[in-house]
Amino acid sequence: MDRIVVKGNGALSGDIPISGAKNACLTLMPATLLSEEPLTLTNAPRLSDIRTMTALLQSLGCEVTSLQDGKVLTMSSHDINNHKADYDIVRKMRASILVLGPMLARDGHAVVSLPGGCAIGARPVDLHLKALEAMGAELDLRDGYVHAKAIGGRLQGAEFTFPLVSVGATENALLAAVLAKGTTVLKNSAREPEIVDLANCLIKMGAQIEGAATGTITIQGVDSLHGATHPVVTDRIELGTYMLAPAIAGGEVELLGGQRELVGAFADKLEEAEIEVTQTNRGLKVKRKNGRVRAVDVVTEPFPGFPTDLQAQMMALMCTAEGTSVLEEKIFENRFMHAPELMRMGANIDVHGGHATVTGVDKLKGAPVMATDLRASVSLILAGLAAEGETVVSRVYHLDRGYEHVVRKLSGVGAHIERLQEGD
Ligand code: EPZ
Repeated sequence: MDRIVVKGNGALSGDIPISGAKNACLTLMPATLLSEEPLTLTNAPRLSDIRTMTALLQSLGCEVTSLQDGKVLTMSSHDINNHKADYDIVRKMRASILVLGPMLARDGHAVVSLPGGCAIGARPVDLHLKALEAMGAELDLRDGYVHAKAIGGRLQGAEFTFPLVSVGATENALLAAVLAKGTTVLKNSAREPEIVDLANCLIKMGAQIEGAATGTITIQGVDSLHGATHPVVTDRIELGTYMLAPAIAGGEVELLGGQRELVGAFADKLEEAEIEVTQTNRGLKVKRKNGRVRAVDVVTEPFPGFPTDLQAQMMALMCTAEGTSVLEEKIFENRFMHAPELMRMGANIDVHGGHATVTGVDKLKGAPVMATDLRASVSLILAGLAAEGETVVSRVYHLDRGYEHVVRKLSGVGAHIERLQEGD
């Protein structure tokens, strides 16, 4: 298995281009199932998760063509011939469940494997299913699969209130409601930029949607949708991750394509920690205000709150901050697995339930550490940028799911980082 080796190398400087968002692309790609005409996505990220979604759509009979080194995806579901999303693909990536809503909306039936467990939490899909049932889907959970049928052959508009905010369930319901008969109102829906990006793309395809950024989404179902071309929104989690590089290692870095509104609560927290964040016409410029980072408390929440997908990376910064910080993880029940790895590097962290208390130390020390999930893996790389000596991160396949060209992007601003292939 590949490993990534990082040596603390002092202050960073230069530019890092930010890619299209994994979590937007994963919900945009299934939209191709909603029209017979081609859907083209530009600014697509080149990631293993995108390749998994491509394989899933192809297994249903979609054509997916990757152009410009994978940055442009043209998809057509004109001739789909299979309505079963197989466990062998779904088990690799939970977002596969996002083909359920559009397949049901398109042809009135679908069979989709249940995703199963995940390192960061139980992550049930009950809200996805409840929202579709409210639109007239008949669901039968059997042999690890959801067997779904639209009563009367077509989904019906409905009002549904999510008991808790779910990004995925909102996306599945939105993808289903655009072709349902009548009006759907989704209350307490997620407001993430990826949801807004999905709604904008669907509107380009002819859908009638209002309120995607508000928490109450109203969809007027239509009989059919047409093709479109849509640029994938900037990846706010990749953006936030690289904003932390100059914060943790020193220096100044400009994140090309960064927009503050994508990372509002996070940028506010960085400023509270004595990190300067400046919007430029090229992106976001980040540097420490005066040499030392101040400890701050963090609570993860749905957008526009502090994103859970930046909690691990923020913990890495707090490891060398001045003072003690408390990070509260409110979205997932098991998302502190990076803490023991950071402690192997000399961090002082005490985890109790959904809270982690981090007491800043002067210096971290490089060590062999293990990635446990996508965001945990990059938090270890960030910690390595500020550590004395060498940090060797193993199981980096986690990283490949959500970060393209990490080594190239960080070494481009002066980091001492390399990837060792198996056997090197
Ligand atoms: C999306 O996951 C993202 N993944 C996650 O990013 C992100 O952490 C999460 O939203 C929260 O922002 C993608 O977009 C592909 P949720 P999702 O449904 O949709 C509970 C990354 O690192 N819940 O908003 O699965 C659930 O258990 C990944 O890129 C139910 O109880 O998240 C969790 O506690 C990790 N029943 C909470 O809601 C349901 O039916 C929020 O989950 C659905 C969710």
